[in-house]
Amino acid sequence: MTKRLALVTFGCQMNVHDSQRIEELMLAAGYEIIADVEGADVVILNTCSVREKAEQKLRSEAGRLKKADVILVVAGCVAQQEGERLIKSMPYIDIVVGPDNLAELPALVRDAELGATPAVRTVFDVEDPRFLTNQVREGGVGASAYVTVMKGCNERCSFCIVPHTRGPERYRSARDIVHEVRALVDGGAREVVLLGQTVNSFMDPETPAEIDRDPDESQFPALLRRIAEEAPALDRLRYTSPHPRHLTASLVRAHADLAVLADHVHMPVQSGSDRMLKRMIRRYTREEYVSRVDALRTARPSLTMSTDIIVGFPGETAADFELTLSLVREVGFSALYGFKYSPRPFTPALRLEDDVSNEEKQTRLLALFEVSDALTRANLASMVGTRVEVLIEGPSRPGASTRVGRTRRNEIVHLPGTVGLDAGAVVVAEVARANKHSVEGRLESIKLPASAKVMQTHRRVALPVVQA
Ligand code: 5AD
Repeated sequence: MTKRLALVTFGCQMNVHDSQRIEELMLAAGYEIIADVEGADVVILNTCSVREKAEQKLRSEAGRLKKADVILVVAGCVAQQEGERLIKSMPYIDIVVGPDNLAELPALVRDAELGATPAVRTVFDVEDPRFLTNQVREGGVGASAYVTVMKGCNERCSFCIVPHTRGPERYRSARDIVHEVRALVDGGAREVVLLGQTVNSFMDPETPAEIDRDPDESQFPALLRRIAEEAPALDRLRYTSPHPRHLTASLVRAHADLAVLADHVHMPVQSGSDRMLKRMIRRYTREEYVSRVDALRTARPSLTMSTDIIVGFPGETAADFELTLSLVREVGFSALYGFKYSPRPFTPALRLEDDVSNEEKQTRLLALFEVSDALTRANLASMVGTRVEVLIEGPSRPGASTRVGRTRRNEIVHLPGTVGLDAGAVVVAEVARANKHSVEGRLESIKLPASAKVMQTHRRVALPVVQA
């Protein structure tokens, strides 16, 4: 009988990407993928350890499955961080597999089914890096697809566990990346999101660096140009997450020149206080961040920016936090992810006293959200009455007749009464109303129809598109 597999994914886009690749590997090995852990023969928890809360989620989810008669796999960053220790503390776990060993999963699961003792595979592929790629097949490609360009991180941000869980930076060749992008576009994808822990530090292992150039200057802008040139049918290109240190003049020029680049950049800033940025080992000042973002916006006036902020980092005073609030207002981010500082194992900041109380962190986080929510609302309100281009991603909710998609500036648009509109279509809509985190629009015309090859999360309905 076909074995059933359920995957639970925590954390960042890289984990979502990794889970998609795990699904493809396990499908190819003959497993059926189901949505619910109930009734599964194999459960894979793809974990995150960037904050303590994320790590706790794994422990409670794994604990829930303790009594179930399943092969239990812990994959991803907690697996890499804890390794053997996970099996010691939770002996009902069958397999612990780090981010660089995911390709071994079908064999490891097969061994576990045959009664093997618990296995731990957490070896970085530093010498000969392997990258999991989209297995492009009919009906298996979404409107938007993730493509890894690099993995690991050479930064040493003092709060961050990622260099420990994902290892040192390793890059794919530009040739392989372009090849994958082209295959996705041929398979019907309209948008590609390039992924990497510091995606814009990319260096092409096959292209020698020019002799007279700054050795720290990345080849990411050249990669963007090459994708634009060699995958001309691609409608939108995005990337995440960049580091402000590599927001160089040539990356700014790429945004001026390449129409395929979407009108949105997520650029984590973490704090608006130079004192905190230094303690965080971010390697830029507030002024440098602001002037680089200004350059980007001059190159692309329609650009929206989003960011990540940590509040309550060790030593953060009320005055430091005020500087963060003023930076958020000054840049005018259209969206923001805010986090309370969470001490993580193996990070340099552990040597600093976590001296901002949890209560104070919570107060600052709420104050931050008040500022950022107002900015988000103002941006969405300014869209009412305008025309936007929307890439349809699927129904707003399972079974809903409303379709949802994103603008080039990354705003979410709901289009009521568009049941016949398929994922992958690019449409023009007039914005009728602003909600808290999205807008509602009226469909005006279809710019690009969806490819018949694209995966539809809803059943395809052979009806003409009904306007709201
Ligand atoms: N505590 C709180 N937030 C953190 N992040 C990373 N490490 C920590 C930590 N120890 C946040 C940063 C990063 C985002 C992915 O998670 O803002 O950009």
